[in-house]
Formats: sequence, structure tokens, C-alpha cells
Amino acid sequence: MPAATPRILMCPPDYFGIEYEINPWMSRAQGADRAAADGQWRGLRDALAGLGVAVEILPPQPGLPDLVFTANAGLVFGTTFLSSRFKHEVRAKESPFFEAWFAAHGFAVQQMPDKTFHEGAGDALFCGDTLFAGYRTRSDATAHQWVAAHLGVRCLPVELVNPRFYHLDTCFCPLAPGVALYHPDAFDGYGRRVLETHVPTLIPVAEPDALRFGCNAVVVGKTVVHNAGCPTLAAALEAHGYLSIPVPLDEFLKAGGSAKCLTLRLDGEDAAGWRA
Ligand code: ARG
Repeated sequence: MPAATPRILMCPPDYFGIEYEINPWMSRAQGADRAAADGQWRGLRDALAGLGVAVEILPPQPGLPDLVFTANAGLVFGTTFLSSRFKHEVRAKESPFFEAWFAAHGFAVQQMPDKTFHEGAGDALFCGDTLFAGYRTRSDATAHQWVAAHLGVRCLPVELVNPRFYHLDTCFCPLAPGVALYHPDAFDGYGRRVLETHVPTLIPVAEPDALRFGCNAVVVGKTVVHNAGCPTLAAALEAHGYLSIPVPLDEFLKAGGSAKCLTLRLDGEDAAGWRA
């Protein structure tokens, strides 16, 4: 079966900046360089387009500096969009813009339950048939269980115990059914055991590359696009038969994000079993 064209949603960084501090990477004093961010964002978009990805654009909005991180919009499952419930009010203001985009593009927009938090594809990633779900810092385990019941899929919640790796996509990256990257120190012993038991090929990413958000990678078939400056990760990917494409994304690291956070797969991740 020929693979359909991958579709990814991105939002240009016209209004990107560090205007508040909601994770340990963000420092208003340090700030961000918008011109540099713009060049890096375009580098990522061009790398994805070069892989045959159809990149769709969400219009940027003044006053929403983190709207660039489309991974947190919600969860896309077929033609349903489950809109996130952001933990922080500064990001909850993004939801109406995400919802309007999805409604205008043929998706059925659904809300997650009240009084629970869920930060979308930042915290919930399919590896094969199983939805791996990070909780504690941003998303609640109860919200993950609601999603799993709603979609009728198996969900394995893992606690995120290291504040620097506050979304699951900062420390876990499915590459294919049964294959994933992970940063072991982002999880407790139980979480590591869950991953080890359910993902037969688990590729560890050591701290230096994990702190450069090497796990926050975009997977397109057998190609992995990730932040530059992760040489050990690049070698591990190639040893497992993947092509590594490094792109510089340091400006976004200042906000606690990188390649994966800047994207939202609209047609299902390649590693997700339900897609096939
Ligand atoms: N500054 C954003 C926040 O703290 C970064 C989001 C990164 N996104 C991700 N999927 N990890 O919410």
C-alpha cells in the first residue's frame, strides 16, 4: 500500500518569545531572538517539505508566543480533533485558534472533560496500538484514561518525574511500532519498566543529547528530524537504520521546545498502529 502524503500542522514564529515562565527552560531575562527563531523555523519546515510532507499553516496570533508549539493543540485521531485542556491560562488562550483551524479543515472538534488537564500530542504518543501517556506536570492521568476510553485504545500512563522533561514528547519518541527513543532519567523505575516491557526496541538517549531535546524529534518513515548538536543520537539512529536530519532549533529550546513540539501530525504518526 503506498504511503499517503504525511500532513503536519505548523505555526510561524511571528509572535514567538519568552513572555512568561511555565517550565524550567524559560527565562524572560534571557528572551529569544525572533529573527533567529524565524530562520530556524523555516529550516525545519523546509526539511519536512523536502521529505514530501504537506506542511499546513496555522496563522500566528499576537499575544500567543507559544502557539508555535502545535503539538500541544490536541490529539488528532482520524477526522476527530480532541482539543487540549492546557494547565496554564497563558496557553489555554490558544485553544480557540486551534479549534477554529480544525473546524475549518473538516475535523470534528471535541472537548476533553472539564477540570482535567491534557496537553495533546505533547503528552500522548502512540507506539503501535498503545497510547503512551505522560502525566503529572501538564496532563492528568484521569484525562489520559478518558481519552483511552473515548477512543477505545489501550493507554499506559507513565509519570514524568524530571521537571526538565515536562512533556512526554521531550523524553520519548516512537519511531515505529515496537521501536522508540527514550531518556531513562525522565521516568521513575515503574515508568521505565512499563516502557521496557511494551516497547521491544527501546533506544536510550543519554543526558547531553536529551538536554538538547534529541528525543523531541519528528519521524517521517525512516527519517528522523531533530535538533542539531546531538551526535550520539544521530549515530544511534543510523545504527538502527534511520536517517538522521539535524536542524538547528536552539531558539525554541529557550521556550522548552524543539522539532516535535513545533509540529502536529494530522494524518497519524507513522509509529501509530491505528494509522495503518
Ligand atoms: N513553552 C511551551 C510550554 O511550556 C513549550 C511547549 C513545548 N511543547 C511540547 N510538546 N513539548 O508549554
